[in-house]
Amino acid sequence: MAILPILTYPDPRLKKIATPIVVVNDEIRTFAKNIAETMYASKGIGLAATQVNVHQQLIVIDVSPNQEQLQTFINPQIIARKGEIEFEEGCLSVPETLVKVVRSAEITVEALNLEGKKILRSAEGLEAVCLQHEIDHLKGIVFVDYLSRLKRERVGKKLLKMQKSSL
Ligand code: NI
Repeated sequence: MAILPILTYPDPRLKKIATPIVVVNDEIRTFAKNIAETMYASKGIGLAATQVNVHQQLIVIDVSPNQEQLQTFINPQIIARKGEIEFEEGCLSVPETLVKVVRSAEITVEALNLEGKKILRSAEGLEAVCLQHEIDHLKGIVFVDYLSRLKRERVGKKLLKMQKSSL
């Protein structure tokens, strides 16, 4: 297992669009373990492959209180949505930044599991928010993209400054 380096906004690689995974093999399963370990080590509740510079459609989430319910989704697609929820989100790629984002309150996701079998997952509340946030990453969308240009640039400048001062 390995902890993978996480890209930080405004790294242009966060804008890359992930491609679907054609075969779920041992290489993918090893990657899934590593990205899950990276998420837990970083105290996150979700992580997308894009954030560790792997541009394939895989996300992990764990929104359980004790972080003991890991869920892995390969090629996730939102196939149904209902209602609206506003939630203050954070992101491992956008440190020290919380942004209120409006998303669907309930969703159904179709994906493949680590055995390559089709799964359906219905989620609401925090889990629905987390899934939408991570699926956005696979499309090259970071939550600050929902902010106005001015606010987004402010976040970008702040993070570049932080990165420079930590070198
Ligand atoms: Ni994120």
